[in-house]
Formats: sequence, C-alpha cells, structure tokens
Amino acid sequence: MGGPIVTIASLKGGSGKTTLACCLAVQWKLQGSNPLLIDADPQRSVIRLAEREQALGGIDLLEKADKALWKTTQQAAANHGITIIDTPGFDSEITVSALAIADLVLIPVKASPLDVDRMMDTVRTLMDGVKGWAPTFRCVLTQTIRGSVISRHVRNELQESGFPLLGSDMPNRVAYAEAGLYGATPSLTAPDGSAARDIASIAGEVEALLATKSRLSA
Ligand SMILES: Nc1ncnc2c1ncn2[C@@H]1O[C@H](COP(=O)(O)OP(=O)(O)O)[C@@H](O)[C@H]1O
Ligand SMILES: [Mg+2]
Repeated sequence: MGGPIVTIASLKGGSGKTTLACCLAVQWKLQGSNPLLIDADPQRSVIRLAEREQALGGIDLLEKADKALWKTTQQAAANHGITIIDTPGFDSEITVSALAIADLVLIPVKASPLDVDRMMDTVRTLMDGVKGWAPTFRCVLTQTIRGSVISRHVRNELQESGFPLLGSDMPNRVAYAEAGLYGATPSLTAPDGSAARDIASIAGEVEALLATKSRLSA
C-alpha cells in the first residue's frame, strides 16, 4: 500500500505553493522516504525547475495537469512513501481532484491582511466545494519577516478565527530563489542553513499529523 498524499493548494498565486511542494519533496527524499512530486499546474513550474542542473535532487516527478489526476495519483502513490501534489490554485477542476484525494491539505498564506482574507475564502471553498467531505488541512505562514508585528498579528488573527495553522513558518529567505537557480532547494544547497532548518521543521510537523491521522483511521 502507498503512503499518504499531501496536496498544496491556495487561491492566491505567489503564496509559495510550488516552493513548499519542492522543498518538502526534497526533504523527504533526503530522509529516505521515497517521495513522489506531482506537478498538477499547467504552468509546469515544478517540471521546469527540475530541468535545471540539480533536477531537484533526482526526486521522482510526474506531470499531470488534467482531470485524470485522481486516478493517476492513486496508481503512482502506491509505489511511493509519500506523494506531494503542487496545484495551480483553487478555481480549477484539477485542484478539486487534488483536494479530494489528499490525506492532508497544506495552504500556504503570506502574512498580509489581503492574503489572509483570500486564504479564508480558500478554506470556505474547500469546505463547501466537495460535498460531505471534511479535509484535514493546515495553513502555513510564508514569507514572514522574523519578529515583525505583522507576522504575529496574522498568526493571532488566524488562530482566533479558528483556522488551524502549523507552528512552523516558512520565513522570507533568499535561499529559496538562490537554490532555484540550480534546480535545487535549500536542503540540497545549504543543508545546515536556516531555510533548510525551517523546511525540516515543517516536514516534521506534517509527518506527525499524518501519523496521528493514520493511527486514528487504523
Ligand atoms: N519563504 C520564502 N522566502 C522567500 N521567497 C519565497 C518564499 N516562498 C516563496 N518565495 C518566492 O515567491 C515566489 C512565488 O512562490 P511560488 O512558490 O512560485 O508560489 P505559487 O506556486 O503559490 O505561485 C517565488 O519567486 C519564490 O521564490
Ligand atoms: Mg506554483
């Protein structure tokens, strides 16, 4: 039997979906978890990144930006320890398929009021969109500035509104773009650096959530 499926989704472009998807997949590869990264975005951001020198550390990739995503994912996930799906955003049939098949949905959200409002729309659509289905999801704050008032404020606002949030952020760091130049992520190019630590911490939280979930459904 295959491992869990983690879908990265949000209504907003530029919220960090592709970056988070690639970073988590590479992290899990380095940990020996045999991940599969599926690019379900017609813009092919993951695939294009993987065409560069370091090919995302040689992770297994699949390009599937059409309605057959659901079936293809189920088949391919069977041979992998964990499957991550990068989506085009929310308003598409492809994303709805990717949500429907997910064990856990991660919603990256930039720490700014406009982005938070949009994120709340995402989650409402998520809850209403797929009938009779209540996904496990977590928001992840991205591009935060350490110690800034806005990050703290947004975190509090989300918590008070009852939106579940990972404890680890993905702070704003140049290491992501720098690694991207080589088709890599910070876990490959600077494994002892701050960005690699941030990603390891997010991956750890996700693993704990998935482990709890599988115990509950066992
Ligand atoms: N934590 C971060 N720190 C700095 N830059 C980031 C971070 N996360 C994403 N970015 C940058 O923001 C831009 C958009 O990110 P991307 O992952 O492509 O978003 P999406 O897939 O949601 O459209 C990219 O240029 C990426 O390098
Ligand atoms: Mg993207």
